[in-house]
Amino acid sequence: MTVNIDPVIAMKQEVGKAAASRVKSDSIVGLGTGSTTAYAIEYIGKRLKEGEINNIVGIPTSFQAEVLAKKYGIPLTTLDAVDRIDIAIDGADEVDPNKNLIKGGGAAHTREKVVDSLAEIFVVVVDGGKLVDRLGSTFLLPVEVIPMAVAPVMRSLSQLGGKPELRMGIKKAGPVVTDQGNLVIDVKFDSIDDPANLEKPLIIFLAY
Ligand code: A5P
Repeated sequence: MTVNIDPVIAMKQEVGKAAASRVKSDSIVGLGTGSTTAYAIEYIGKRLKEGEINNIVGIPTSFQAEVLAKKYGIPLTTLDAVDRIDIAIDGADEVDPNKNLIKGGGAAHTREKVVDSLAEIFVVVVDGGKLVDRLGSTFLLPVEVIPMAVAPVMRSLSQLGGKPELRMGIKKAGPVVTDQGNLVIDVKFDSIDDPANLEKPLIIFLAY
């Protein structure tokens, strides 16, 4: 019997496995969030279990990553306990030709940004559907914001030319609340021509 696997899932598994194969023994590994990174976490756990690598500790970027790491037997630590991250593996929602990313589809982007930016090596795992010519083509820009600042931040995002919308929960009444207790505003920009420049005003008082 032939089992037909969804090609997008097959791609996610392949890139997850390839990223996991980059992890060396004695490493501190940033564990990203999302359905693609989930495969990387699974394969890192498999390599540990089979003795192919040893002495790995993970720093999770979300509750999801933490749960998966525990499931697959990857010991965890925190940023308080280490002075470096050797490699981080994480997904993305869009990637442009210059390797600029939109992240935050899973509302974990603030912690992801902290962990990923500290890593010596940052491996992004995406399927082909995430590659775009221009950021914002297929995905809204997620902005994480502390709850008391939602109204002024929405006004500022509109002034920057965006159309902001508070992300609402699915199977949960009210807005999505992040692992940090914050809210997420998804912003539609007609065109993100210069991601680095858009980042500057956002970073002043937002985590994007
Ligand atoms: C989490 O907030 C995101 O940045 C994810 O890394 C991103 O949404 C990719 O997720 P998938 O691999 O599930 O598409």
